[in-house]
Amino acid sequence: MNDRVPELARPFAELLAMRPPVALGMPLPRLDGPDKVTGRARYAAEHPAGDLLYGVIVDTAAARGRIQRIDTGRAAAVPGVVDILTHENRPRMRSLDMFYKDMTAPVTGSPFKPLHDAEVHYSGQPVALVVATSFEAARHAATLVQVEVATEPHHTDLMAALPEAHDPSALRAGFKPPPEPRGDAEAAYAAAAVQVEAEFHHGAEHHNPMEMHAATVVYGRNRHLTIHDKTQGSQNVRWVVSRVFGLPKSRVTVKNQFVGGAFGAGLRPQHPVLLATMAALKLERSVRVVLTRQQMFFFGHRPETWQRVKLGAQADGQLTALMHDAVGATSRKEDYVEVVVNWSSQLYRCDNVRQGYKLAALDHYSPMDMRAPGAAHGVHAIEVAMDELAHRLHIDPLALRLKNYADHDYNEDLPFSSKELRACYHEGAQRFGWDARPQAPRSMREGRELVGWGMATGTWDALQMFARVHAVLQADGQLVLRSAASDIGTGTLTVMTQIGAASMGMAMEDVRFELGDSNLPVAPIEGGSSHVTTIGSAVQGVCERLQHKLWELARKQPNSPFATCRFHDVGFAQGTMYLRFERDVTVRLTDILAAAGLKELEEKYLMLPAVLKQKKYTRAVHSAVFCEVKVDEELGTVRVTRVVSAIAAGRIMNAQTARSQIIGGVVWGISQALHEETQADQQLGRFMNHDFAQYHVPVNADIHDIDVIFVDENDRIASRLGAKGVGEIGLVGVAAAICNAIHHATGRRILSLPMTPDKVMAPASPSYNA
Ligand code: MOS
Repeated sequence: MNDRVPELARPFAELLAMRPPVALGMPLPRLDGPDKVTGRARYAAEHPAGDLLYGVIVDTAAARGRIQRIDTGRAAAVPGVVDILTHENRPRMRSLDMFYKDMTAPVTGSPFKPLHDAEVHYSGQPVALVVATSFEAARHAATLVQVEVATEPHHTDLMAALPEAHDPSALRAGFKPPPEPRGDAEAAYAAAAVQVEAEFHHGAEHHNPMEMHAATVVYGRNRHLTIHDKTQGSQNVRWVVSRVFGLPKSRVTVKNQFVGGAFGAGLRPQHPVLLATMAALKLERSVRVVLTRQQMFFFGHRPETWQRVKLGAQADGQLTALMHDAVGATSRKEDYVEVVVNWSSQLYRCDNVRQGYKLAALDHYSPMDMRAPGAAHGVHAIEVAMDELAHRLHIDPLALRLKNYADHDYNEDLPFSSKELRACYHEGAQRFGWDARPQAPRSMREGRELVGWGMATGTWDALQMFARVHAVLQADGQLVLRSAASDIGTGTLTVMTQIGAASMGMAMEDVRFELGDSNLPVAPIEGGSSHVTTIGSAVQGVCERLQHKLWELARKQPNSPFATCRFHDVGFAQGTMYLRFERDVTVRLTDILAAAGLKELEEKYLMLPAVLKQKKYTRAVHSAVFCEVKVDEELGTVRVTRVVSAIAAGRIMNAQTARSQIIGGVVWGISQALHEETQADQQLGRFMNHDFAQYHVPVNADIHDIDVIFVDENDRIASRLGAKGVGEIGLVGVAAAICNAIHHATGRRILSLPMTPDKVMAPASPSYNA
């Protein structure tokens, strides 16, 4: 090595000039962008398989009852139809609930088992799978299947079910029941100088990622199943599929290299993958099942939720009483739980707090996590109530929040690991120009439109799970990182490559991150905005181990210039290792391997959260959202013309992909505020607007200026990277800011989402006390 070093050593500045070094935080475009926009990226339903069969699901309209008869005669006669699977002829699958539980499911309750028995639990339930040699034949035949159901009375009306709401029995990882009451909230409320009471209603929402749920099961040699599934966790799907069908894990490989959005819809393994596997096992052939867009509305949703908030305050704005109750819809089969009310008493300091959370069981499919589950509703309610309190007190809404700012988490009696929400308020307000806001509603007009400015706070957890990452530095200088992570469109592939490149001092093109395969080292589902804190930390950890190994190898070489240096005396840049105090002494990493006679250098890292340290803190991300709306009172239309979202989410790994995450969240917030709701016909017990003609999502014309600010935060308790995660926080508080802006524009307080034109035109809601 001694005689190699001089010829390879170059002035450090010369090396630097070759390529700008990759750094954490640097805005870098998506690596998978070109593949996605050119169609090279293959999604679950696009993977080829020889001799492929196509499965089309037949669902029932009945909301509750028992299947009496399924007449498949006409369907079976369609040329190309190979089989029609029903509960009567399906292959063997497990009966016990425990085999259907996945990494995210509630601990109690009975998960849905497709084609398991004659019971009908909800409208839209799959009752048969038509399998044919072409998609067209299967789809046509599916329309000919006749299903007779003996119906039983059903119940899908949340508001009617409120009196029978029950305490959630499900204890679920990550779920916290409301905190114990503090002080005497009722007495403090009664004695308060100013009171606000408001009831909120949020309709059900369906996830609707661009890619429909689908699975292609490739029936391979030795009866091995390679399953391309639309999922947020390949290992989660492998776990459930192998257990449900009693297969050894080694017989099942699940892949999800590209996922066209999911937002929580792909956390639990969904019935398309179970049905496709069922057919593949029975027919011993490859099978693909794709849901139609309409069928995307029949397997889980953000639950319809009722809330009541009561706030009492002194004349100076000091909160004296905070009461927050919620009832969320669940199914009759499972208790789906989320944290709805706890956020309000975590965001604001108040000595007298009482909160409650209950569930009402309806005859729908179980609700599912949807981006910022719980917070999307609970934070909305408190932030609208705070705005009304500010209005009644004639205090600026931002000043009221600063007055009641919580520097401590009084729910848990813990300090925050970091909380730069004040900086979000200040930087957001400054960027927006909040100072110029007139306090009285109906003060601003532009032509025929009323103009309003509103703001709200957002918060979400900073979570961390455990994961493994394996790294191989190859003789050709390529670094390969492997983990069974998912990229559901969030930029995971890009950010993990970037963390690897930045840690190792390598170029992006010299690092390859492999994800989306259940055979890769263990990784959690991509959910809860935790992939960067989890997988990202593991990437950084494994890179540091590799560096240590490289340093050990280099210093052992005869006459090595690194012989006497310590590990922290070396740095890594441009694919080389160098001496920090003598930068001209460098060696290529490939030459370290060559000199040691190695073809590759391997390292492994298991990222375990520092639980003992973390449990002494509350770890949360925060945001301040400011927005401008223009309201046409005669038409009831609302345009959100300007949004500033200031985010405190720890250290940002990639300014570009993180910004995209927040923009996506804000767009959804606008959508939640103004457009999205799946409405059930209570007589039929069925979600009726199950297509994009009737379930509205925003189009380009609905979206105007969105400005994202990341305030400085670096949280080494949340993760070794200092990151906290940015997926879900972009959504939280957006709808509240819009609601508050509509009030500022019109003087009308709209307490149910979405705020559609009929509600915008209606007189002020009677839910507020005078
Ligand atoms: Mo999400 S609701 O953490 O996929």
